[in-house]
Amino acid sequence: MAGMGFVSLAVTVVGLGLCSSLGSGQNYFLDDTAGLGRVFDGIGGLSGGGATSRLLVSYAEPHRSRILDFLFKPNFGASLQILKVEIGGDAQTTDGTEASHMHYENDENYFRGYEWWLMKEAKKRNPNITLIGLPWAFPGWVGRGKNWPYDFPDITAAYVVNWILGAKQYHDLDIQYIGIWNERNFDIKYIKLLRYTLDKSGLEGVGIIASDNLWEPITLFVLLDPELSRAVNVIGAHYPGTHTVTEALKTGKKLWSSEDYSTFNSDTGGGCWARILNQNYVNGFMTATISWNLVASYYEDLPFGRDGLMTAEEPWSGNYVVESPIWITAHTTQFTQPGWTYLQTVGHLTQGGSYVALTDGKGNLTVVIETMTHDHSVCIRPPLPPFNLTSQNATFQLKGSFVSIKELQVWRSQFNFKTKKPSLFEKLPPLKLVNGSFTLHLDEDEVYTLTTITTGQKGSYPDPPPSARFPKVYKDNFDVRTPPFSEAPLFADQTGVFEYYNNLTDPGPHVFTLRQVLTQRPITWVADADQTISVIGDYQWQNLTVTCDVYMENVKSGGVFIAARVDKGGQSIRTAKGVFFWVFADGKYKVSNDLAGQTVLAEGLSGTKAYDWNTLSLTVKGQFASGQLNGVTLWKSAVVLNPKTGWAALGTQSFELAQFDNFSVLSE
Ligand SMILES: *[C@@H]1O[C@H](CO)[C@@H](O)[C@H](O)[C@H]1NC(C)=O
Ligand SMILES: *[C@@H]1O[C@H](CO)[C@@H](O)[C@H](O)[C@H]1NC(C)=O
Ligand SMILES: *[C@@H]1O[C@H](CO)[C@@H](O)[C@H](O)[C@H]1NC(C)=O
Ligand SMILES: *[C@@H]1O[C@H](CO)[C@@H](O)[C@H](O)[C@H]1NC(C)=O
Ligand SMILES: *[C@@H]1O[C@H](CO)[C@@H](O)[C@H](O)[C@H]1NC(C)=O
Ligand SMILES: *[C@@H]1O[C@H](CO)[C@@H](O)[C@H](O)[C@H]1NC(C)=O
Ligand SMILES: *[C@@H]1O[C@H](CO)[C@@H](O)[C@H](O)[C@H]1NC(C)=O
Ligand SMILES: *[C@@H]1O[C@H](CO)[C@@H](O)[C@H](O)[C@H]1NC(C)=O
Repeated sequence: MAGMGFVSLAVTVVGLGLCSSLGSGQNYFLDDTAGLGRVFDGIGGLSGGGATSRLLVSYAEPHRSRILDFLFKPNFGASLQILKVEIGGDAQTTDGTEASHMHYENDENYFRGYEWWLMKEAKKRNPNITLIGLPWAFPGWVGRGKNWPYDFPDITAAYVVNWILGAKQYHDLDIQYIGIWNERNFDIKYIKLLRYTLDKSGLEGVGIIASDNLWEPITLFVLLDPELSRAVNVIGAHYPGTHTVTEALKTGKKLWSSEDYSTFNSDTGGGCWARILNQNYVNGFMTATISWNLVASYYEDLPFGRDGLMTAEEPWSGNYVVESPIWITAHTTQFTQPGWTYLQTVGHLTQGGSYVALTDGKGNLTVVIETMTHDHSVCIRPPLPPFNLTSQNATFQLKGSFVSIKELQVWRSQFNFKTKKPSLFEKLPPLKLVNGSFTLHLDEDEVYTLTTITTGQKGSYPDPPPSARFPKVYKDNFDVRTPPFSEAPLFADQTGVFEYYNNLTDPGPHVFTLRQVLTQRPITWVADADQTISVIGDYQWQNLTVTCDVYMENVKSGGVFIAARVDKGGQSIRTAKGVFFWVFADGKYKVSNDLAGQTVLAEGLSGTKAYDWNTLSLTVKGQFASGQLNGVTLWKSAVVLNPKTGWAALGTQSFELAQFDNFSVLSE
């Protein structure tokens, strides 16, 4: 942390007209004479872990492309340098499930879900973007029925390598890095076998990141085991709080914050992100930082609502919000490239805040300074230890290769928390340097970029349509299958996977349906329900009628439901409450107050059986619910005290095949 602790009465020209006369302050040096620091690998976003981009695909154009531009287009918005995606494993991974490329052992399909599409859209905008894949969960067959992916490491490695090969074969996507098992145990034998399988498959260039958890114990094992050390390219830690451990530095590996941020994307979230992006290098020598998540494109009432760099959670209205983290990202990404190198002269400012500097090695220099205060930069994971920060004058003295730089472009963000009106990523007049020196008056809660790069731009589009609630009347007969994402628009699977299905031998009308396709419990990441369930709609829905045609394919013990007022998703899905109307293949029906089916409100005979289409209709109004089967009232006046509101849903009693058609909601 050179550059600190040198006090002087600086005699320099003060830039920007921020200080009218010369003032006292601290001196900092930006110098490559003694060599450079670590190579910069980029700033990125994470789609997945899980289903965090679920609603994005359903945006109409031009809004969808505009959102993608704010994320990926160089010199426009966040201009992300890394895109990390979940390798769907069919299980709940925070905000939903993502479909696997191999639901069953003899099944391979590289067109499911939206991550392929997202990677291609990112690549279209920035051909240099670094792509990373990481599993959170695995289909059940990978563990041969056990909730553990390492008993048959050859099967797991082949499964993961298939995904990388499929990315290339079907989408011409080169995956550059692959992870182990998100925030779960690693297995040394598996990591070595994964390296071997990659090499054997012509994927020598794909780097392994381990272990997407804490710094330890992976660094210790890498230090002790030369073969493991050869297999691992990057030590990736999650939520490192800007710090690393000595052992991680000793490995000589690249150190990344491979998942970070996870904070509500208000301006305070932007402050958190600004502090992380600088201090992950200043304090922890981390050369890449990846935001969980990329874009908040999931129902806000699911866990961690709006923890993305921007918000795009209303495809029905087209409304999206370019939040402050987008512009904070731009402060670094628009003026650097992966492959640039940090200067050794980075550090903390004496009155609080930090600065980093990077160079392309050809004379270009980018300096990023942040002065985020404690209250305005609190990240959720981990919270921030208290610190003091006051306004200050900082003089930067350029040395070495940079001594002859005459002018720097200036970009500034000011959060102005007192007035609530931030000014984000504003271009100021260029700063003339005299004798390689400049002084800035730094207030609290500011971010500055000073750079020789002249291509920065604050991209903009006309305002998106205004925000609106989910439509009160919603219908889907699953016949319109473009775009061809496996799930139907706006359904958010919370356990199980619901895909478009076509039964071409069906004479009609149920040729095109939605089908729950899992037949086995996956290797889970959190506590998935024992039932499958997909939610849709407005969490504030109270009085409504849900109608759907249902078809059981499990003769012995099949069961399906439609539901209203479903109050939970994500890792709490097992304890979801609501009003659930079930019919079973054994000719019975049930109404329960919970997904687990334990609080029974009504039950009796329905005459339903497998391989038979039936129309279920559920009406909930105030404290009462009633249900119809094929247009005839089957039960009524069931008393529902709680929950008061929630999503509509459909699902199955177990991991079993079942189909749904003509879904509709009519809400008050
Ligand atoms: C910064 O410099 C300006 C101009 O000389 C001076 O008025 C101000 O007091 C200085 N601020 C600090 C915190 O030193
Ligand atoms: C991609 O990388 C090359 C080589 O570093 C660079 O010349 C080019 O400008 C980059 N393109 C974009 C869009 O960043
Ligand atoms: C800086 O980068 C630009 C491309 O962005 C290049 O044209 C220029 O030669 C580089 N070097 C300097 C000293 O500006
Ligand atoms: C912040 O400043 C106050 C007053 O100078 C001091 O008492 C306190 O210890 C400081 N806190 C930190 C975390 O430095
Ligand atoms: C710049 O540096 C030269 C040589 O050190 C010195 O003579 C001159 O006074 C300096 N100019 C300013 C404005 O500080
Ligand atoms: C497909 O349709 C045929 C004819 O209606 C039916 O017999 C068969 O069970 C259906 N298969 C599935 C999987 O839905
Ligand atoms: C159900 O949807 C099918 C198309 O999937 C349509 O042909 C049929 O008319 C619909 N039935 C009802 C009752 O709306
Ligand atoms: C739902 O219906 C009940 C009973 O009619 C009524 O009291 C309540 O205000 C309605 N809620 C909404 C949101 O319309």
